[in-house]
Amino acid sequence: MNKLFQTKTFSPAQLQGSGLKRTLTAGNLVALGIGAVIGAGIFVITGNAAAVHAGPAVVISFIISAIGCALAGLCYAEFSSMFPVSGSAYSYAYATMGEFVAWILGWDLILEYLLGASTVAVGWSGYTVSFLADLGIHLPTALTQAPIDFTNENGWYLTGAIINFPSVFIVTILATLLVLGVKESATLNNIIVIIKVIVILLFIGFGIAYINLDNWSPFIPENTGHFENFGFSGILSGAAVVFFAYVGFDAVSTAAQEAKNPQKDMPRGILISLLICTILYIAVSLVLTGIVNYKDLNVAAPIALAIDTAGAGLRWLAPLVKIGAIAGLSSVVMVLMYGQSRVFYSMAKDGLLPSLFAKLHHRYRTPHITTWLIGLACAVFAGLLPINILSKMVSIGTLLAFTIVSIGIIILRKRRPDLPRPFKTPWVPVVPIAGALVCLTQMFALSIDTWIRLVGWMAIGLVIYFGYSIRHSKLRKDS
Ligand code: ALA
Repeated sequence: MNKLFQTKTFSPAQLQGSGLKRTLTAGNLVALGIGAVIGAGIFVITGNAAAVHAGPAVVISFIISAIGCALAGLCYAEFSSMFPVSGSAYSYAYATMGEFVAWILGWDLILEYLLGASTVAVGWSGYTVSFLADLGIHLPTALTQAPIDFTNENGWYLTGAIINFPSVFIVTILATLLVLGVKESATLNNIIVIIKVIVILLFIGFGIAYINLDNWSPFIPENTGHFENFGFSGILSGAAVVFFAYVGFDAVSTAAQEAKNPQKDMPRGILISLLICTILYIAVSLVLTGIVNYKDLNVAAPIALAIDTAGAGLRWLAPLVKIGAIAGLSSVVMVLMYGQSRVFYSMAKDGLLPSLFAKLHHRYRTPHITTWLIGLACAVFAGLLPINILSKMVSIGTLLAFTIVSIGIIILRKRRPDLPRPFKTPWVPVVPIAGALVCLTQMFALSIDTWIRLVGWMAIGLVIYFGYSIRHSKLRKDS
């Protein structure tokens, strides 16, 4: 039993020996954060969050969510500066809370990375279909929609569509690139970040003139009697849904070992990228709900809809927004699939997953089998399920990970006060406790069916852990 909570010790060589150079400045870290963060959340999910959960008050949802992210982000930064190893929260948990918690986190991170990539791929599909339609190419609906959907009233049902083909297509292309070892270079990331931000600024700057103030009234629509729909509880549900839009900023904390000056630059990188994204998100959601009535926003490409609604004066912006979204979303899918492959790689190295997951391609030196398996799973989810089901699973899974990481900081301060911490979370335990509480509150604002899926997912994880991992764990064998 004790062995369940046995912790892994990283050797000094593992801690320093990633051999990474400290080259990243605060500016690079901010770009990294924005590059990983801005994606389907703002380009797609804001529409659903406004239409179904919060109305124009989705703005408040964005602020609540950002606060939780900032608090948890500071905890991530302390971990990543202490354990500069791959595997993100999975590795931090292994070093501090033991194998069992590490497994839970590793299994949970699949929801963040793998399902996150599927979600963004579905968003990519929405904008691509809309862009192709502008060019006169109309793909049949049966090949661009999810064949399965869920509503509270009907439960699971078939929609009549066959597959969301464009999302399967983009996942296949990006998985192939990852196997070939094409990592996004910092330069490409910077270019895509600039494109994304410019497109969003253009939408805000030119869209303002088309706002119809009537659309903001009521700003907080009255609750319908369902917890999730409007009113204060709707704003909280909206916060949990738009939380997806911030997923990925933990990428900043995983770069702690490459930061020139982690103590100063990590919190700057995390907080400034979050602040910039939050301001952009608030402004976009104000303009979006100002141009289109929130009730009409539950569509695949809401920003494109706003441009169409604004009329001829804004039509020139449509192709730019769509191209920006298509480029920006592809890079987010790639970053998330890459992150997933590195988590699986670390888990397989520790013996918790079959060694096949850590096998490197003889020529490309990439974990090719893992990457193909991830690509396959990602394509299946993206091809079959709608974005709102996927994104809620990502939100609940990532919120759980943030909660455990926040609590982990308090445990680690008690257990290992001696370890050197290049970055220290300020005001412990206030910051981690507040971070965990904000994340938990958002989790509880998600519907029961999302919870049931989370519990089901974690149950599958436990079966694998007790059926396989516990018998193959390297840590157990060594001890
Ligand atoms: N935050 C990322 C997005 O919105 C995952 O696409």
